[in-house]
Amino acid sequence: MLLYCHIPFCDSKCHYCAFNSFTHNHHLKKEYMRALMRQLRRELEQKNPSKLQSLFIGGGTPSTIDANLYEPLFELLEPLVDKKTEITFEANPNSASPDWLQGIKALGANRVSFGVQSFNEKKLKFLGRAHTPSQAIQAIENAQKVGFTHINLDIIYDTAMDTKKLLQYDIAQALTLPIDHISAYALSIEEDTPFAKTPQAAANKEEFGYLIKELITLPQYEVSNFGSYRCRHNIGYWELRPYIGIGCGAVGFDGKNRYYPCSDLHAYIQNPLAIQNERLNSQELRLERLFLGFRSIVGVERSLCDEKKVQILLNEGKLLQKGDRLYNPNFFLADELALYLS
Ligand SMILES: C[S@@+](CC[C@H](N)C(=O)[O-])C[C@H]1O[C@@H](n2cnc3c(N)ncnc32)[C@H](O)[C@@H]1O
Ligand code: SF4
Repeated sequence: MLLYCHIPFCDSKCHYCAFNSFTHNHHLKKEYMRALMRQLRRELEQKNPSKLQSLFIGGGTPSTIDANLYEPLFELLEPLVDKKTEITFEANPNSASPDWLQGIKALGANRVSFGVQSFNEKKLKFLGRAHTPSQAIQAIENAQKVGFTHINLDIIYDTAMDTKKLLQYDIAQALTLPIDHISAYALSIEEDTPFAKTPQAAANKEEFGYLIKELITLPQYEVSNFGSYRCRHNIGYWELRPYIGIGCGAVGFDGKNRYYPCSDLHAYIQNPLAIQNERLNSQELRLERLFLGFRSIVGVERSLCDEKKVQILLNEGKLLQKGDRLYNPNFFLADELALYLS
């Protein structure tokens, strides 16, 4: 079983971000963590997993919460965790202090993922980030000093500020650091974010994707993910494995239903057990498998695809087959492939 835990607090709100997070109400953190535990206990009773393959604490900004406030969560999960469990915390460079990194390492975290976005000061300001390039470099070096060997950094590209030179600089700088993974996301303009009013903030240049792929020397294993180490939690999502989702604005999946804990902070704290359910029919599940499988090294079972069209794409070299699965050699074309074969 996979477990996702959502921390909906941020120090400030970035201009592009639509994730569920709050910059106020930080005084509710302790109560929030208690509510989170209530939901987790309920989920464990209902789903009764024997082991956790991965635990991903994401956000929002998990590094806005003191490491010791995560202790009850780790105590409860102890019987489900072993040496093989991948335990990732997301962190922001301005709040992931050496003490915090030490604290989560002591709890058992073995992977940390930093939201860096860029090493260019002006691009960081343009994106509305709260940290400087040198803070990001320092935070990653601190994570290495504390003993983390699995370190990711997130980059955003395809912004109006990007040029070939700027992206070359961003990736070259990233690759000098002690990381084994880069998530590089093309800027998407999301509703109800400041960038929704200035959609020209995104360059929408396809060639930037290909440039990023060329610049990042780590192997690409999904459209936005590159690593000598492949994140098991991510792979679990793309394999459409069930996952428990806890926290305000999290999402869970039990194999047939997606479920949504409340995304309002006060309401969640009051009742973390009020959860909305969305049943996926077999056609929707099949489409999920197509879209997720073609975006990544997971691939898709051949029997799920339109047979005549598969043959055409195999002949044209746009699909590869191994055993009874089909693989996409160009992840940037995943959506077109999935639509065509659906
Ligand atoms: C869930 S966020 C949390 C990470 C952490 N709070 C941080 O920002 O440092 C994970 C990543 O998603 C990416 N992201 C969020 N919104 C995006 C958008 N609209 N377009 C592209 N990437 C986005 C950013 O790279 C971000 O680091
Ligand atoms: S990108 Fe990260 S820090 Fe910025 S608002 Fe979103 S979750 Fe918060």
